[in-house]
Amino acid sequence: MQIKFSAEPAGDAVAYLAYEGDKGVEFAADLDKSAEAAMRRAIAAGSFKGGAGQVVEILAPEWSDASRVMIVGVGKKTAVSELGWQKAAATLVKRLLTSGAKSLSIVGAPDRGVAANLAFGARLAGYRFDQYRLNLKTDKKPTLASVSVVTDSAAGARSDYAPLSAKAEGVELARNLVSEPPNVLHPESYAERIEELSELGLEIEVLDVAAMTKLGMGSLVGVGQGSVRGSRLVVLKWMGGKDKKAAPVALIGKGVTFDTGGISLKPGPGMQDMKGDMGGSAAVVGAMMAIAKRKAKANVVGLVGLVENMPDGNAQRPGDIVRAAAGKTIEIQNTDAEGRLVLCDVLWYAQKKFNPKAMVDLATLTGAIIVSLGNEHAGIFSNSDDLVAKLTAAGKAEGEPIWRLPLGPGYDKQIDSEVADMRNIGNAGNAGSITAAQFLQRFVDEGRAWAHLDIAGTAWKPGNDNPLEPTWATGWGVRILDRFIADNYED
Ligand code: BES
Ligand code: MN
Ligand code: ZN
Repeated sequence: MQIKFSAEPAGDAVAYLAYEGDKGVEFAADLDKSAEAAMRRAIAAGSFKGGAGQVVEILAPEWSDASRVMIVGVGKKTAVSELGWQKAAATLVKRLLTSGAKSLSIVGAPDRGVAANLAFGARLAGYRFDQYRLNLKTDKKPTLASVSVVTDSAAGARSDYAPLSAKAEGVELARNLVSEPPNVLHPESYAERIEELSELGLEIEVLDVAAMTKLGMGSLVGVGQGSVRGSRLVVLKWMGGKDKKAAPVALIGKGVTFDTGGISLKPGPGMQDMKGDMGGSAAVVGAMMAIAKRKAKANVVGLVGLVENMPDGNAQRPGDIVRAAAGKTIEIQNTDAEGRLVLCDVLWYAQKKFNPKAMVDLATLTGAIIVSLGNEHAGIFSNSDDLVAKLTAAGKAEGEPIWRLPLGPGYDKQIDSEVADMRNIGNAGNAGSITAAQFLQRFVDEGRAWAHLDIAGTAWKPGNDNPLEPTWATGWGVRILDRFIADNYED
Protein backbone atom coordinates (compact mmCIF):
# COMPACT_ATOMS: atom_id res chain seq x y z
CA MET A 1 0.00 0.00 0.00
CA GLN A 2 1.41 3.34 -1.05
CA ILE A 3 1.00 6.01 1.64
CA LYS A 4 0.96 9.75 0.88
CA PHE A 5 0.23 13.03 2.60
CA SER A 6 -1.34 15.83 0.59
CA ALA A 7 -3.10 19.16 0.94
CA GLU A 8 -6.17 18.35 -1.14
CA PRO A 9 -8.35 15.25 -1.44
CA ALA A 10 -8.09 13.33 -4.70
CA GLY A 11 -9.07 9.71 -5.18
CA ASP A 12 -11.67 7.22 -6.34
CA ALA A 13 -12.87 7.25 -2.78
CA VAL A 14 -12.88 10.20 -0.38
CA ALA A 15 -13.60 9.57 3.30
CA TYR A 16 -14.48 12.14 5.95
CA LEU A 17 -13.76 11.62 9.62
CA ALA A 18 -16.70 12.29 11.94
CA TYR A 19 -17.14 12.46 15.72
CA GLU A 20 -20.01 11.30 17.82
CA GLY A 21 -21.27 14.53 19.38
CA ASP A 22 -23.97 15.44 21.93
CA LYS A 23 -25.96 17.15 19.19
CA GLY A 24 -25.38 14.44 16.60
CA VAL A 25 -22.63 13.80 14.08
CA GLU A 26 -19.85 16.39 13.93
CA PHE A 27 -17.51 16.44 10.94
CA ALA A 28 -13.80 16.74 11.69
CA ALA A 29 -13.29 18.93 8.58
CA ASP A 30 -15.05 22.03 7.27
CA LEU A 31 -17.29 20.95 4.44
CA ASP A 32 -18.83 22.52 1.43
CA LYS A 33 -22.52 23.38 2.22
CA SER A 34 -24.14 21.29 -0.49
CA ALA A 35 -21.86 18.35 0.18
CA GLU A 36 -22.63 18.54 3.88
CA ALA A 37 -26.38 18.61 3.21
CA ALA A 38 -26.10 15.53 0.99
CA MET A 39 -23.99 13.69 3.55
CA ARG A 40 -26.40 14.55 6.38
CA ARG A 41 -29.19 13.08 4.30
CA ALA A 42 -27.21 9.84 3.91
CA ILE A 43 -26.54 9.83 7.66
CA ALA A 44 -30.24 10.30 8.41
CA ALA A 45 -31.07 7.33 6.18
CA GLY A 46 -29.10 4.93 8.38
CA SER A 47 -28.07 4.43 11.97
CA PHE A 48 -24.72 6.22 11.77
CA LYS A 49 -23.87 8.19 14.93
CA GLY A 50 -20.15 8.73 14.51
CA GLY A 51 -19.27 5.83 16.79
CA ALA A 52 -15.87 4.20 16.34
CA GLY A 53 -15.90 1.85 13.37
CA GLN A 54 -19.23 3.03 11.90
CA VAL A 55 -19.21 3.82 8.18
CA VAL A 56 -21.55 5.48 5.68
CA GLU A 57 -20.86 4.87 2.02
CA ILE A 58 -22.38 6.94 -0.78
CA LEU A 59 -21.85 5.63 -4.30
CA ALA A 60 -21.42 7.85 -7.37
CA PRO A 61 -22.80 11.12 -5.90
CA GLU A 62 -23.50 13.79 -8.49
CA TRP A 63 -22.04 16.49 -6.24
CA SER A 64 -18.57 14.95 -6.00
CA ASP A 65 -15.74 13.99 -8.38
CA ALA A 66 -15.15 10.87 -6.30
CA SER A 67 -17.01 7.67 -7.17
CA ARG A 68 -17.43 6.93 -3.48
CA VAL A 69 -17.82 9.30 -0.59
CA MET A 70 -17.52 7.76 2.83
CA ILE A 71 -17.94 8.92 6.40
CA VAL A 72 -16.13 7.07 9.15
CA GLY A 73 -16.88 7.46 12.84
CA VAL A 74 -14.07 7.86 15.38
CA GLY A 75 -16.18 8.18 18.54
CA LYS A 76 -16.35 11.08 20.98
CA LYS A 77 -14.05 14.01 20.15
CA THR A 78 -12.41 14.11 23.59
CA ALA A 79 -11.58 10.43 23.69
CA VAL A 80 -9.90 9.44 20.41
CA SER A 81 -6.63 7.58 21.04
CA GLU A 82 -3.80 6.95 18.58
CA LEU A 83 -5.22 3.47 18.22
CA GLY A 84 -8.67 4.94 17.55
CA TRP A 85 -7.38 6.95 14.58
CA GLN A 86 -5.46 3.93 13.31
CA LYS A 87 -8.59 1.77 13.45
CA ALA A 88 -10.73 4.34 11.63
CA ALA A 89 -8.34 4.40 8.68
CA ALA A 90 -8.00 0.63 8.84
CA THR A 91 -11.78 0.16 8.69
CA LEU A 92 -11.92 2.21 5.48
CA VAL A 93 -9.06 0.32 3.89
CA LYS A 94 -10.54 -3.08 4.77
CA ARG A 95 -13.86 -2.04 3.15
CA LEU A 96 -12.20 -0.80 0.01
CA LEU A 97 -9.42 -3.33 -0.43
CA THR A 98 -11.09 -5.37 -3.20
CA SER A 99 -13.92 -2.92 -3.97
CA GLY A 100 -12.64 -1.69 -7.33
CA ALA A 101 -11.46 1.61 -5.84
CA LYS A 102 -7.78 2.21 -6.51
CA SER A 103 -7.14 5.21 -4.31
CA LEU A 104 -8.49 6.66 -1.09
CA SER A 105 -8.19 10.12 0.44
CA ILE A 106 -8.91 10.60 4.13
CA VAL A 107 -10.08 14.07 5.16
CA GLY A 108 -10.30 15.65 8.61
CA ALA A 109 -7.05 14.89 10.48
CA PRO A 110 -6.89 17.63 13.14
CA ASP A 111 -3.07 17.61 13.31
CA ARG A 112 0.09 16.03 11.91
CA GLY A 113 0.27 13.35 14.59
CA VAL A 114 -3.24 12.19 13.79
CA ALA A 115 -2.42 12.24 10.08
CA ALA A 116 0.57 9.97 10.75
CA ASN A 117 -1.55 7.55 12.80
CA LEU A 118 -4.22 7.41 10.10
CA ALA A 119 -1.48 6.52 7.64
CA PHE A 120 -0.10 3.83 9.97
CA GLY A 121 -3.55 2.26 10.38
CA ALA A 122 -4.15 2.31 6.62
CA ARG A 123 -0.78 0.69 6.02
CA LEU A 124 -1.35 -2.16 8.50
CA ALA A 125 -4.84 -2.83 7.12
CA GLY A 126 -3.59 -2.95 3.54
CA TYR A 127 -1.43 -6.00 4.26
CA ARG A 128 -2.17 -9.31 2.56
CA PHE A 129 -0.13 -12.47 2.18
CA ASP A 130 -0.87 -13.30 -1.46
CA GLN A 131 2.51 -14.62 -2.65
CA TYR A 132 1.24 -18.10 -3.34
CA ARG A 133 -2.19 -17.19 -4.75
CA LEU A 134 -1.17 -17.18 -8.37
CA ASN A 135 -4.62 -17.38 -9.92
CA LEU A 136 -6.84 -15.14 -7.84
CA LYS A 137 -10.13 -14.18 -9.51
CA THR A 138 -10.34 -10.51 -10.39
CA ASP A 139 -13.01 -9.78 -7.79
CA LYS A 140 -10.81 -11.32 -5.06
CA LYS A 141 -7.73 -9.32 -6.01
CA PRO A 142 -6.88 -6.18 -4.05
CA THR A 143 -7.55 -3.02 -6.05
CA LEU A 144 -6.74 -0.33 -3.52
CA ALA A 145 -3.14 0.69 -4.13
CA SER A 146 -2.74 4.05 -2.46
CA VAL A 147 -4.03 6.01 0.50
CA SER A 148 -3.44 9.70 0.91
CA VAL A 149 -4.06 11.50 4.15
CA VAL A 150 -5.14 15.09 3.72
CA THR A 151 -3.35 17.53 6.01
CA ASP A 152 -2.11 21.10 5.87
CA SER A 153 1.11 20.00 7.56
CA ALA A 154 2.22 17.29 5.13
CA ALA A 155 5.93 17.70 5.87
CA GLY A 156 5.34 17.38 9.61
CA ALA A 157 3.09 14.36 9.11
CA ARG A 158 5.73 12.74 6.93
CA SER A 159 8.32 13.05 9.67
CA ASP A 160 5.90 11.78 12.34
CA TYR A 161 5.12 8.86 10.06
CA ALA A 162 8.76 7.82 9.52
CA PRO A 163 9.12 5.80 12.77
CA LEU A 164 5.60 4.40 12.29
CA SER A 165 6.53 3.29 8.80
CA ALA A 166 9.57 1.49 10.27
CA LYS A 167 7.26 -0.20 12.77
CA ALA A 168 4.82 -1.17 10.00
CA GLU A 169 7.65 -2.76 8.03
CA GLY A 170 8.58 -4.79 11.09
CA VAL A 171 4.96 -5.92 11.52
CA GLU A 172 4.77 -6.87 7.83
CA LEU A 173 7.98 -8.86 8.08
CA ALA A 174 6.67 -10.72 11.14
CA ARG A 175 3.38 -11.50 9.35
CA ASN A 176 5.24 -12.75 6.29
CA LEU A 177 7.48 -14.99 8.37
CA VAL A 178 4.55 -16.50 10.31
CA SER A 179 2.56 -17.01 7.08
CA GLU A 180 5.36 -18.67 5.10
CA PRO A 181 4.78 -22.41 4.69
CA PRO A 182 7.07 -24.69 6.70
CA ASN A 183 8.63 -26.27 3.60
CA VAL A 184 9.89 -22.81 2.64
CA LEU A 185 10.69 -21.38 6.07
CA HIS A 186 12.79 -23.83 8.09
CA PRO A 187 15.67 -23.13 10.47
CA GLU A 188 18.30 -22.91 7.73
CA SER A 189 16.36 -20.69 5.31
CA TYR A 190 15.02 -18.60 8.20
CA ALA A 191 18.54 -17.88 9.44
CA GLU A 192 19.52 -16.82 5.92
CA ARG A 193 16.57 -14.48 5.74
CA ILE A 194 17.55 -12.87 9.02
CA GLU A 195 21.11 -12.43 7.75
CA GLU A 196 19.74 -10.19 4.99
CA LEU A 197 18.83 -7.65 7.69
CA SER A 198 22.52 -6.84 8.13
CA GLU A 199 22.01 -4.24 5.39
CA LEU A 200 20.08 -2.19 7.97
CA GLY A 201 23.16 -1.97 10.18
CA LEU A 202 22.19 -4.90 12.40
CA GLU A 203 25.06 -7.14 13.36
CA ILE A 204 23.98 -10.74 12.77
CA GLU A 205 25.61 -13.84 14.23
CA VAL A 206 24.45 -17.37 13.37
CA LEU A 207 25.30 -20.42 15.49
CA ASP A 208 24.85 -23.80 13.82
CA VAL A 209 24.43 -27.21 15.48
CA ALA A 210 28.18 -27.76 15.84
CA ALA A 211 28.64 -24.38 17.55
CA MET A 212 25.69 -24.93 19.86
CA THR A 213 26.83 -28.46 20.72
CA LYS A 214 30.25 -27.08 21.64
CA LEU A 215 28.57 -24.59 23.97
CA GLY A 216 26.69 -27.46 25.62
CA MET A 217 23.18 -26.60 24.42
CA GLY A 218 21.91 -30.17 24.65
CA SER A 219 18.37 -29.03 25.28
CA LEU A 220 17.88 -26.91 22.14
CA VAL A 221 19.88 -29.31 19.98
CA GLY A 222 17.82 -32.27 21.26
CA VAL A 223 14.57 -30.74 19.97
CA GLY A 224 15.93 -30.38 16.44
CA GLN A 225 17.63 -33.77 16.17
CA GLY A 226 14.70 -35.42 14.39
CA SER A 227 14.73 -32.87 11.58
CA VAL A 228 16.77 -32.98 8.38
CA ARG A 229 17.20 -29.21 8.82
CA GLY A 230 19.97 -28.05 11.11
CA SER A 231 18.90 -25.96 14.11
CA ARG A 232 20.17 -22.39 14.40
CA LEU A 233 20.54 -19.73 17.05
CA VAL A 234 20.57 -16.26 15.50
CA VAL A 235 21.65 -13.11 17.31
CA LEU A 236 20.70 -9.65 16.00
CA LYS A 237 22.60 -6.79 17.59
CA TRP A 238 21.64 -3.11 17.54
CA MET A 239 23.93 -0.96 19.65
CA GLY A 240 22.42 2.46 18.96
CA GLY A 241 22.73 3.86 22.49
CA LYS A 242 25.09 6.69 23.48
CA ASP A 243 27.29 4.23 25.33
CA LYS A 244 27.80 1.29 22.97
CA LYS A 245 29.19 -0.76 25.86
CA ALA A 246 26.18 -0.31 28.14
CA ALA A 247 24.20 -3.47 28.91
CA PRO A 248 21.47 -4.03 26.30
CA VAL A 249 17.88 -5.14 26.61
CA ALA A 250 17.54 -8.70 25.30
CA LEU A 251 14.52 -9.80 23.26
CA ILE A 252 14.25 -13.57 22.89
CA GLY A 253 11.96 -15.57 20.62
CA LYS A 254 10.79 -19.15 20.19
CA GLY A 255 11.31 -20.12 16.57
CA VAL A 256 9.89 -23.60 16.07
CA THR A 257 9.35 -23.47 12.31
CA PHE A 258 7.04 -26.47 12.54
CA ASP A 259 5.83 -28.27 15.63
CA THR A 260 4.56 -31.79 14.93
CA GLY A 261 4.91 -32.57 18.62
CA GLY A 262 7.77 -34.94 17.77
CA ILE A 263 7.40 -38.54 19.02
CA SER A 264 4.61 -37.23 21.31
CA LEU A 265 2.86 -36.51 18.01
CA LYS A 266 0.09 -33.92 17.88
CA PRO A 267 -3.34 -34.92 16.51
CA GLY A 268 -3.71 -34.34 12.76
CA PRO A 269 -6.58 -31.83 12.54
CA GLY A 270 -5.33 -28.27 12.66
CA MET A 271 -1.68 -29.26 12.72
CA GLN A 272 -0.99 -26.96 9.77
CA ASP A 273 -1.29 -24.01 12.16
CA MET A 274 1.93 -25.16 13.79
CA LYS A 275 3.85 -23.45 10.98
CA GLY A 276 3.18 -20.39 13.14
CA ASP A 277 5.02 -21.81 16.13
CA MET A 278 7.87 -19.44 15.32
CA GLY A 279 5.65 -16.40 16.03
CA GLY A 280 7.72 -15.32 19.05
CA SER A 281 10.87 -15.24 16.96
CA ALA A 282 9.06 -13.36 14.17
CA ALA A 283 8.05 -10.67 16.67
CA VAL A 284 11.67 -10.31 17.78
CA VAL A 285 13.01 -10.18 14.22
CA GLY A 286 10.30 -7.69 13.20
CA ALA A 287 10.97 -5.51 16.22
CA MET A 288 14.72 -5.54 15.56
CA MET A 289 13.98 -4.46 11.99
CA ALA A 290 11.82 -1.57 13.22
CA ILE A 291 14.44 -0.54 15.78
CA ALA A 292 17.18 -0.53 13.16
CA LYS A 293 15.05 1.20 10.51
CA ARG A 294 14.23 4.07 12.83
CA LYS A 295 17.78 4.13 14.17
CA ALA A 296 16.69 3.82 17.79
CA LYS A 297 19.09 5.32 20.33
CA ALA A 298 19.14 2.18 22.45
CA ASN A 299 21.18 -0.99 22.88
CA VAL A 300 18.98 -3.95 22.02
CA VAL A 301 19.86 -7.54 21.15
CA GLY A 302 17.48 -10.08 19.65
CA LEU A 303 18.09 -13.81 20.03
CA VAL A 304 16.00 -16.46 18.30
CA GLY A 305 16.20 -20.23 18.64
CA LEU A 306 15.23 -21.85 15.33
CA VAL A 307 14.35 -25.55 15.26
CA GLU A 308 11.95 -27.94 13.57
CA ASN A 309 10.25 -30.48 15.88
CA MET A 310 9.87 -33.69 13.86
CA PRO A 311 9.33 -37.39 14.63
CA ASP A 312 12.10 -39.51 13.11
CA GLY A 313 14.44 -42.43 13.76
CA ASN A 314 16.83 -39.97 15.31
CA ALA A 315 14.21 -37.89 17.12
CA GLN A 316 14.33 -37.37 20.87
CA ARG A 317 12.17 -39.76 22.94
CA PRO A 318 10.02 -39.32 26.03
CA GLY A 319 12.33 -40.57 28.76
CA ASP A 320 15.48 -39.04 27.33
CA ILE A 321 17.54 -36.90 29.70
CA VAL A 322 19.34 -33.92 28.18
CA ARG A 323 21.82 -31.47 29.65
CA ALA A 324 21.14 -27.77 29.07
CA ALA A 325 24.01 -25.31 28.67
CA ALA A 326 23.30 -23.93 32.14
CA GLY A 327 24.47 -27.28 33.54
CA LYS A 328 21.02 -28.54 34.51
CA THR A 329 19.55 -31.84 33.38
CA ILE A 330 16.03 -32.23 32.00
CA GLU A 331 13.95 -35.38 31.78
CA ILE A 332 11.91 -35.19 28.60
CA GLN A 333 8.46 -36.49 29.46
CA ASN A 334 6.70 -35.06 26.43
CA THR A 335 8.50 -34.11 23.23
CA ASP A 336 5.65 -31.69 22.42
CA ALA A 337 6.71 -29.42 25.30
CA GLU A 338 9.64 -28.36 23.11
CA GLY A 339 9.46 -24.56 23.20
CA ARG A 340 10.77 -24.31 26.76
CA LEU A 341 13.60 -26.69 25.81
CA VAL A 342 14.65 -24.32 23.05
CA LEU A 343 14.25 -21.16 25.10
CA CYS A 344 16.21 -22.32 28.16
CA ASP A 345 19.43 -22.53 26.15
CA VAL A 346 18.76 -19.21 24.43
CA LEU A 347 18.11 -17.54 27.81
CA TRP A 348 21.41 -18.94 29.07
CA TYR A 349 23.30 -17.65 26.04
CA ALA A 350 21.71 -14.20 26.25
CA GLN A 351 22.73 -13.79 29.89
CA LYS A 352 26.24 -15.19 29.51
CA LYS A 353 27.04 -13.19 26.40
CA PHE A 354 25.29 -9.87 27.04
CA ASN A 355 24.52 -9.55 30.76
CA PRO A 356 21.27 -7.79 29.73
CA LYS A 357 19.62 -5.24 32.02
CA ALA A 358 16.25 -6.74 31.13
CA MET A 359 15.20 -9.83 29.24
CA VAL A 360 11.84 -10.37 27.51
CA ASP A 361 10.98 -13.62 25.79
CA LEU A 362 8.03 -14.25 23.48
CA ALA A 363 6.77 -17.69 22.63
CA THR A 364 3.74 -19.56 21.32
CA LEU A 365 4.39 -21.75 24.33
CA THR A 366 1.17 -23.37 25.53
CA GLY A 367 -2.31 -24.23 24.31
CA ALA A 368 -3.37 -23.61 27.92
CA ILE A 369 -2.92 -19.84 27.53
CA ILE A 370 -5.71 -19.94 24.91
CA VAL A 371 -7.92 -21.69 27.48
CA SER A 372 -7.15 -18.87 29.96
CA LEU A 373 -7.11 -15.73 27.82
CA GLY A 374 -8.48 -16.68 24.40
CA ASN A 375 -7.20 -14.60 21.50
CA GLU A 376 -7.62 -11.24 23.28
CA HIS A 377 -4.65 -10.98 25.65
CA ALA A 378 -1.22 -12.52 25.65
CA GLY A 379 -0.13 -13.84 29.04
CA ILE A 380 2.76 -12.22 30.88
CA PHE A 381 4.82 -13.88 33.62
CA SER A 382 7.59 -11.94 35.32
CA ASN A 383 9.85 -11.52 38.33
CA SER A 384 9.67 -7.71 37.96
CA ASP A 385 6.64 -5.49 38.66
CA ASP A 386 8.49 -2.71 36.84
CA LEU A 387 8.84 -4.71 33.61
CA VAL A 388 5.19 -5.77 33.82
CA ALA A 389 4.12 -2.13 34.18
CA LYS A 390 6.24 -1.02 31.20
CA LEU A 391 5.07 -3.83 28.95
CA THR A 392 1.43 -3.50 30.00
CA ALA A 393 1.43 0.21 29.14
CA ALA A 394 3.12 -0.39 25.78
CA GLY A 395 0.70 -3.19 24.92
CA LYS A 396 -2.34 -1.12 25.79
CA ALA A 397 -1.24 1.81 23.63
CA GLU A 398 -0.45 -0.45 20.68
CA GLY A 399 -3.58 -2.62 20.79
CA GLU A 400 -1.53 -5.64 21.87
CA PRO A 401 -2.85 -6.08 25.42
CA ILE A 402 -1.30 -8.47 27.93
CA TRP A 403 -2.53 -9.93 31.23
CA ARG A 404 -0.36 -11.01 34.14
CA LEU A 405 -0.53 -14.52 35.57
CA PRO A 406 1.24 -15.67 38.74
CA LEU A 407 4.43 -17.61 39.40
CA GLY A 408 5.26 -19.35 42.66
CA PRO A 409 6.96 -22.26 44.42
CA GLY A 410 3.73 -24.26 44.56
CA TYR A 411 3.70 -24.36 40.77
CA ASP A 412 7.45 -24.76 40.47
CA LYS A 413 7.52 -28.07 42.31
CA GLN A 414 5.32 -29.61 39.61
CA ILE A 415 8.33 -29.73 37.31
CA ASP A 416 10.63 -31.60 39.72
CA SER A 417 11.80 -34.93 38.32
CA GLU A 418 12.71 -38.17 40.07
CA VAL A 419 15.63 -38.84 37.75
CA ALA A 420 16.92 -35.42 36.64
CA ASP A 421 17.05 -31.80 37.85
CA MET A 422 13.65 -31.17 36.31
CA ARG A 423 11.12 -32.54 33.85
CA ASN A 424 9.70 -30.64 30.90
CA ILE A 425 5.98 -30.83 31.80
CA GLY A 426 3.85 -30.27 34.91
CA ASN A 427 0.78 -32.24 35.98
CA ALA A 428 -1.77 -32.79 33.21
CA GLY A 429 -4.54 -30.21 33.07
CA ASN A 430 -3.01 -28.17 35.90
CA ALA A 431 -1.85 -24.58 35.23
CA GLY A 432 0.02 -25.56 32.07
CA SER A 433 1.01 -22.02 31.06
CA ILE A 434 2.36 -21.29 34.54
CA THR A 435 4.42 -24.47 34.85
CA ALA A 436 5.92 -23.68 31.41
CA ALA A 437 6.89 -20.24 32.72
CA GLN A 438 8.32 -21.82 35.91
CA PHE A 439 10.52 -23.98 33.72
CA LEU A 440 11.90 -20.88 31.97
CA GLN A 441 12.41 -19.09 35.27
CA ARG A 442 14.73 -21.87 36.41
CA PHE A 443 17.13 -20.55 33.76
CA VAL A 444 16.90 -16.88 34.75
CA ASP A 445 19.82 -15.63 36.88
CA GLU A 446 19.05 -14.41 40.39
CA GLY A 447 18.26 -10.68 40.28
CA ARG A 448 17.81 -10.45 36.49
CA ALA A 449 14.66 -8.61 35.36
CA TRP A 450 12.79 -11.01 33.09
CA ALA A 451 9.36 -11.26 31.50
CA HIS A 452 7.87 -14.09 29.48
CA LEU A 453 5.01 -13.45 27.06
CA ASP A 454 2.96 -16.50 26.05
CA ILE A 455 1.55 -15.50 22.65
CA ALA A 456 0.01 -18.83 21.57
CA GLY A 457 -3.42 -17.13 21.40
CA THR A 458 -2.35 -13.93 19.67
CA ALA A 459 0.39 -14.79 17.11
CA TRP A 460 -2.37 -15.93 14.79
CA LYS A 461 -6.11 -15.53 15.15
CA PRO A 462 -8.52 -17.58 13.07
CA GLY A 463 -11.27 -15.36 11.68
CA ASN A 464 -9.66 -12.23 13.12
CA ASP A 465 -11.92 -9.17 12.77
CA ASN A 466 -9.46 -6.52 14.01
CA PRO A 467 -9.29 -4.06 11.07
CA LEU A 468 -5.57 -3.45 11.68
CA GLU A 469 -4.76 -7.11 11.18
CA PRO A 470 -5.19 -9.76 8.49
CA THR A 471 -7.33 -12.86 9.05
CA TRP A 472 -4.55 -15.08 10.40
CA ALA A 473 -0.94 -14.05 11.15
CA THR A 474 -1.13 -10.86 13.21
CA GLY A 475 2.56 -9.99 13.55
CA TRP A 476 1.77 -9.76 17.26
CA GLY A 477 4.64 -8.47 19.37
CA VAL A 478 6.40 -6.06 17.03
CA ARG A 479 4.30 -3.10 18.13
CA ILE A 480 4.49 -3.76 21.89
CA LEU A 481 8.25 -4.39 21.75
CA ASP A 482 9.01 -1.35 19.61
CA ARG A 483 7.09 0.94 21.96
CA PHE A 484 8.53 -0.76 25.06
CA ILE A 485 12.01 0.15 23.80
CA ALA A 486 11.04 3.63 22.53
CA ASP A 487 9.33 4.67 25.77
CA ASN A 488 11.81 3.23 28.28
CA TYR A 489 15.31 2.66 26.95
CA GLU A 490 16.20 5.36 24.44
CA ASP A 491 18.80 8.06 25.15
N1 BES B 1 3.43 -24.88 20.16
C1 BES B 1 2.68 -25.52 21.18
C2 BES B 1 1.69 -24.61 21.89
C3 BES B 1 0.55 -24.08 21.06
C4 BES B 1 -0.66 -24.74 21.06
C5 BES B 1 0.67 -22.93 20.32
C6 BES B 1 -1.73 -24.25 20.32
C7 BES B 1 -0.39 -22.44 19.60
C8 BES B 1 -1.59 -23.10 19.60
C9 BES B 1 3.62 -26.09 22.24
O1 BES B 1 4.86 -26.51 21.78
C10 BES B 1 2.96 -27.28 22.82
O2 BES B 1 2.76 -28.22 22.11
N2 BES B 1 2.63 -27.22 24.11
C11 BES B 1 1.96 -28.29 24.74
C12 BES B 1 2.57 -28.47 26.12
C13 BES B 1 2.14 -29.72 26.82
C14 BES B 1 2.69 -30.93 26.11
C15 BES B 1 2.66 -29.68 28.26
C16 BES B 1 0.48 -27.93 24.85
O3 BES B 1 0.16 -26.75 25.01
O4 BES B 1 -0.34 -28.84 24.72
MN1 MN C 1 4.82 -28.49 21.05
ZN1 ZN D 1 5.55 -25.58 20.08
